Amino acid sequence: MADKDGNILAKDYGLGIAPPLRPFPVKGMSSAGWGMQRRLSEIFADDGRTIMLAFDHGYILGSTAGLERLDLTIPSIMADADCLMATRGALRTCIPANHRKAVALRCTADGSVLKDDMSRGVPAVDVEDAIRLNASCMAVQCFIGSDGELDSLRNLAYYVNAGEKYNIPVLGVVAVGKEMERTSRYFAMATRLLAEHGAHIIKTYYCDNFEQITAACPVPIVIAGGKKIPERDALEMAYRAISEGAAGVDMGRNVLQSACPQAMLKAIRMVVHEDATPEEAYHAYELWQEDLK
Ligand code: 5RP
Repeated sequence: MADKDGNILAKDYGLGIAPPLRPFPVKGMSSAGWGMQRRLSEIFADDGRTIMLAFDHGYILGSTAGLERLDLTIPSIMADADCLMATRGALRTCIPANHRKAVALRCTADGSVLKDDMSRGVPAVDVEDAIRLNASCMAVQCFIGSDGELDSLRNLAYYVNAGEKYNIPVLGVVAVGKEMERTSRYFAMATRLLAEHGAHIIKTYYCDNFEQITAACPVPIVIAGGKKIPERDALEMAYRAISEGAAGVDMGRNVLQSACPQAMLKAIRMVVHEDATPEEAYHAYELWQEDLK
């Protein structure tokens, strides 16, 4: 070996110093494999929280207001997101591969809104393709209590099994079909059920008694934004969810259909990562909105 001779001898063994204990900041994931923790660390910051920017709506809705030109919109505002939630089609065509964000890859196909029953989804993305795309987690839509409940659980099991094999976390998304319940009781049951089936992160809607729901769910919960509401109300919802134990938000329309998406994402960052009140965040939103005009 060319450099066999002349190496500086090892001498700094830190004798007497115990290896540092580094608690893993993501709920319920302390004993996950290294690769799993690595990917979770892409999604969640050191405070154990995350801001996911969801722009996967096109997989059921086609083009929607605020999401017409993902190639123009998303790269220009994504700086304040921790994670991008997208389909593989949007990711490949609209997001430059040299971005530094985590990716929550939408993996099931659940039919379009033109169909009455979307609950019989199928696995659409092979786990190998999720690996090729370097996904940080795989998102699976689950319609608990629907006619297609077992299809959802089969899909979830497929991705959880593959995820455990390759250390890729699964984001279980609590879906609410047209006729499905939207009560606290329902969300409590569905979130816990998905976690028991092995989902590593759960996405659900904010509701009454949310604190009980996050307490009873052994993995992190992020809230969906849902339909566009006034910016101040969306910040209030995010604040309440975080105060009541959510690990973050996964918002789409309340950012992308806002009067100023970039300012809205910055304001959400203040709530999620800086413990700002909704008043403080909304005030900052208004100032940024002026600045960014
Ligand atoms: C659907 C989803 C979508 O990602 C979500 O609907 C998009 O976010 P938003 O509702 O905030 O626009 O998970 O179940």
